[in-house]
Amino acid sequence: MTALVHSRDDLAGARAAMTGTVGVVMTMGALHEGHRALLRAAREQSDHVIATIFVNPLQFGPNEDFDRYPRTLDADLAICAEAGVDLVFAPDRAEMYPSGEPMVRVNPGPLGERLEGASRPGFFHGVLTVVLKLLQVTRPHLAFFGEKDYQQLTLVRRMVRDLDVPVRIVGVPTVREPDGLALSSRNRYLAPAERQAAQTLSAALRAGVEAAAQGRDAEAVARATFDSDTAKLDYLLLTDPDLGPAPAEGPGRLLVAAWVGSTRLIDNAAVEVVAAA
Ligand code: PAJ
Repeated sequence: MTALVHSRDDLAGARAAMTGTVGVVMTMGALHEGHRALLRAAREQSDHVIATIFVNPLQFGPNEDFDRYPRTLDADLAICAEAGVDLVFAPDRAEMYPSGEPMVRVNPGPLGERLEGASRPGFFHGVLTVVLKLLQVTRPHLAFFGEKDYQQLTLVRRMVRDLDVPVRIVGVPTVREPDGLALSSRNRYLAPAERQAAQTLSAALRAGVEAAAQGRDAEAVARATFDSDTAKLDYLLLTDPDLGPAPAEGPGRLLVAAWVGSTRLIDNAAVEVVAAA
């Protein structure tokens, strides 16, 4: 049985009754197979699973899609029930931010200003602030985040380490459509031709991953593969696994962000860089 609570008081009551380990999956709703993979991992690795559903206004810029972000609570609850979630916490804005916008926020540091942070000022302040708040009110042993949002996952790990938050962060691999497109709540904005064009992000990553393994320049190959006629590239970058400078050899991460029509999409992939012969 999946219980639904909207208030912190009801959440606290339900949380207090949980014995054993608690895993949390934080979402903005509009749940899809990617979220389902997180719920599945949480179900397997913890005694109790809490899912949170909250479209966090703090992480949307003034010209972003807060108002039109899909809100599908009934369908989300059905997915949570099917995934064996014990408790769904779906607060409204006043419940999460009773004093209005918080004056004190988590500062993500320099990594929060790059990549997604460069295109979306204040985004990671908003993300980390709500993630920390949700960790405080759910008090989980484990928290599950998707590799799909790799910079978010990296910053959440970093926040937990730097601020001594007592939780273990678990990363879950990206779930994709058969043609490679990473699942995202924003994919439903795409018109059919845009949906077709969107696969250039994952195609570019695949080409880059393959090139790296052959000792070729992953970033250059990925860039050459990206179809700039149908999508507008924001960034495409090879980094080390912590989003530092690209490695000459060994594990790395290839990250891409692009606009397809008016929809901004991101994706990334693990890369094994083989030194050129
Ligand atoms: P949202 O975009 O709803 O994503 C919730 C979680 O699902 C994140 O950890 C995200 O990385 C993961 N996820 C999304 N698509 C995925 C996919 N295709 N494969 C695997 N995991 C996927 O990310 C957020 O919400 C918010 O920033 C949040 C953390 C909830 C804070 O507001």
